[in-house]
Amino acid sequence: MSTTSTPGAIPPVETTIAGLRSHLDAARASGSTIALVPTMGSLHDGHLALVERATELAQTVVVSIFVNPLQFGPSEDFERYPRDLDADRDALTGQGVAAVFAPAADEMYPNGPSQTRVTAGAVGSMFEGRSRPGHFDGVLTVVAKLLGIAQPDLVIFGQKDAQQVFLVQRMVRDLDIRSRVEVVETVRADDGLALSSRNRFLDERHRRAARAIPDALEAAQSAADRGIDAVLAAAQGVLMGADDVELDYFSVVRTDTFQPVDDDHRGPARALVAARVGDTRLIDTELLHLG
Ligand code: PAF
Repeated sequence: MSTTSTPGAIPPVETTIAGLRSHLDAARASGSTIALVPTMGSLHDGHLALVERATELAQTVVVSIFVNPLQFGPSEDFERYPRDLDADRDALTGQGVAAVFAPAADEMYPNGPSQTRVTAGAVGSMFEGRSRPGHFDGVLTVVAKLLGIAQPDLVIFGQKDAQQVFLVQRMVRDLDIRSRVEVVETVRADDGLALSSRNRFLDERHRRAARAIPDALEAAQSAADRGIDAVLAAAQGVLMGADDVELDYFSVVRTDTFQPVDDDHRGPARALVAARVGDTRLIDTELLHLG
């Protein structure tokens, strides 16, 4: 439970770095531990699960809401990305959040897009990075800035964005950042679909079609003890046969390197899937134990 927020209270919004820092300095001075939940808004139950975990682990919870221009490519619709701070604040009301940090772009990047960037390396150009060049450099740069601003004891991410999680964990290690990265399991709707801000774009037919994604992961899970070839065949069997689903990739990677597993790999591995359903691109992931 947050010590700096009254249960049921609407969380205050800080729009400046100085304002957030003085809020958090006061919390720290009174002995609070601090957790940061970075988001781009459009909050759903998946985000609320991150907030809930944050309130279990720290006394002061701050949620950042910032649609980060650095992680959008020129052909991606940064301008049209949904923004509704009032709805997000409503969603966070009563959730034990001490403050919402909602800076404008020129507060975060006062001199235009920052010249100093964190680079995500080769893993940043695979999978999601292949269709979104520069995306993960933008993500890591803003996450590094948010960690520098809030200096939280913990920072919380959802497992669904598995490549983002891998890259943030590696950045925190490589740059000796003190915050601990806590990862929360994916929250799923009753039909198995991972919660995502993009699910709102699916009409009924495409929503039904999208079930092929969690179904493929389930098939992969069932085949895991027979090895990687069985996993790939099982998942591709589901995804290739699904109407309205255009597969971008299904891959199984090592958890320590994020590189595709070798044929003889045994033990933990992460299945990754991305597919376009109608006009909506969805991603999902599951941990497997390859036998
Ligand atoms: O996962 C997201 O919503 C964003 O990539 C993040 C981590 C908030 C950085 O902008």
